[in-house]
Amino acid sequence: MSTQLMYEEFKNKFNPVHSPRQFFAPGRINLIGEHTDYNGGHVFPASISFGTYALATKRSDNKIRFYSMNFSDLGIIEVNLDNLDYNEDDNWANYPKGMIKYIREHGCKIDFGMDILYYGNIPNSAGLSSSASIEMVTGVLLEGLFDFDLDRIEMIKLGQKVENEYIGVNSGIMDQFAIGMGKKDHAIHLNTATLDYSYAPIKLPDHSIVIINTNKSRTLAGSKYNERRSECEQALADLRTELTIDGLGDLTPEDFESHKYLIRNETNQRRAKHAVYENARTLDALQKLKTNDLEAFGKLMNESHLSLQHDYEVTGKELDTIVETAWEQAGVTGARMTGAGFGGCAIAIVENDKIDSFKQQVSQRYIEKIGYDVSFYTAAIGDGAKEITEEVK
Ligand code: GLA
Repeated sequence: MSTQLMYEEFKNKFNPVHSPRQFFAPGRINLIGEHTDYNGGHVFPASISFGTYALATKRSDNKIRFYSMNFSDLGIIEVNLDNLDYNEDDNWANYPKGMIKYIREHGCKIDFGMDILYYGNIPNSAGLSSSASIEMVTGVLLEGLFDFDLDRIEMIKLGQKVENEYIGVNSGIMDQFAIGMGKKDHAIHLNTATLDYSYAPIKLPDHSIVIINTNKSRTLAGSKYNERRSECEQALADLRTELTIDGLGDLTPEDFESHKYLIRNETNQRRAKHAVYENARTLDALQKLKTNDLEAFGKLMNESHLSLQHDYEVTGKELDTIVETAWEQAGVTGARMTGAGFGGCAIAIVENDKIDSFKQQVSQRYIEKIGYDVSFYTAAIGDGAKEITEEVK
């Protein structure tokens, strides 16, 4: 989709007086540290070059008109600045509506309506955070149009609040953080208990990160995501009968092994085991990357997948088929599901000159076993949410 086409579509739909400003927020992958963010653990995501574009202008009344080129059949969705409550009929526009509502309630002055056109090139429901991307692009466009300075971490927290309280998915802070704070060619090491973070350069001269989409669509609202979270909370409550901890992320694997008997339910024990070991693997993976030990990093990715498959049970046959096939291929350093699971995407670190045969093998096996094909994307790690100032009219 060219920028020019977006501008033309904006003109057609909204007939604006002024030319719109353009904003972008990426999607994200997570290299390792899955289902640790709501357990006070560490994560290691990166923002990707695919994402959501928004063109926007202020209006002189209180109407807000949303249009998505991805959901053109839904046409313009119109709401009023004075009523931003969740409304099922507003469909996808509830994400930006929630963001406008919470940023306004936070005290930022948004005193006029606006016209906003969205276009996203991250596939929806693929586990690459299209929803956090639309929240964050809305955050930066509001900041741009209404000229206020909202602390980026606050904006990230408001994005998470939209998911938790407006949409009803109890997700952690990883996605909004990765998208809000992303940096070209870097992954972000985030401690979700303290929000301390640092950037780690991802230099892979001979390898690429290949994203493989199961094309099994799912929404978190309709998945067992909230169930996993409450299983972890139950495990934590059991552990806290004897331990003084704030989250499962406070435990080392050794602490866990010597106290796991406190967790009364066997399923909850496995969920907690994943959270604790995955957190340790993430810290380990960071060290491996610092010493350029890509092989060891890849092995930790593989272990992460196995834990998500057997202990956390969020993979499913589609993701397992992709990842297990990936492990068998020459030139694959590591492969795992990424994001929430239950469908969505996997990632693999693959030697550049083996990518073609990798794709062919994975695709063939997937069609044989699942009955339809995967899609592949090669991830460039790009910047976080921002205004795009290039002049294209
Ligand atoms: C989703 C959530 C994140 C995180 C991941 C799993 O992407 O939005 O907060 O919990 O799943 O790691």
